Amino acid sequence: MINKDIDKVLISEGELDAAVSRLAEEISRDYAGEDKKLVLLCILKGSIVFMGDLMKKLTVPLEIDCMRVSSYGAGTQSSGNVNIVLDLIRPDLEECDVLIVEDIIDSGRTLSYLMKYLTHKGVKSVRTCTLLDKPSRRVVDFTPDYVGFEIPDEFVVGYGLDYAERYRALPYVGVLKPEVYSD
Ligand code: IMP
Ligand code: MG
Repeated sequence: MINKDIDKVLISEGELDAAVSRLAEEISRDYAGEDKKLVLLCILKGSIVFMGDLMKKLTVPLEIDCMRVSSYGAGTQSSGNVNIVLDLIRPDLEECDVLIVEDIIDSGRTLSYLMKYLTHKGVKSVRTCTLLDKPSRRVVDFTPDYVGFEIPDEFVVGYGLDYAERYRALPYVGVLKPEVYSD
């Protein structure tokens, strides 16, 4: 059943599942080994669904943590500033191999800021995994380590991603009908 506000399904449930399995295999291979302390860092709220599915498929020991940042207002355009709304606080940062789990990379500002921030905080290593990437929208040079799908410059919702806090629970990634948003 397609939501009435969705123009088209860009990535189906089955395609999402296959991509998450592929990413989990790559990550499990790269983080195998006694010397690793993998911490999956969920960037709230958009990455909740992706991270929940990804962690179930990983075959290496892991811990989870969350940060929340804001750069978007209620619309579809980034404000350009990254604010930390919920910080990563733990006593063992210098032992942690952090893998940032993000829903989508657009301008690149959020992840390039977070990479610098976590490196400055002294984590042992930090890499990035994004479900979706819109390379054509980059403002800041940034290349993620693991990517689910490269997508065109369209505003998407579902599988955790929102427009004005709605549509996060859709099981697919879809494009909103233009009349739904005003900017
Ligand atoms: P960046 O800092 O510009 O790379 O923006 C990344 C953040 O913008 C993501 O974590 C999303 O919350 C949000 N975002 C960017 N593009 C979309 C989209 O198409 N749909 C929903 N959220 C988006
Ligand atoms: Mg968002």
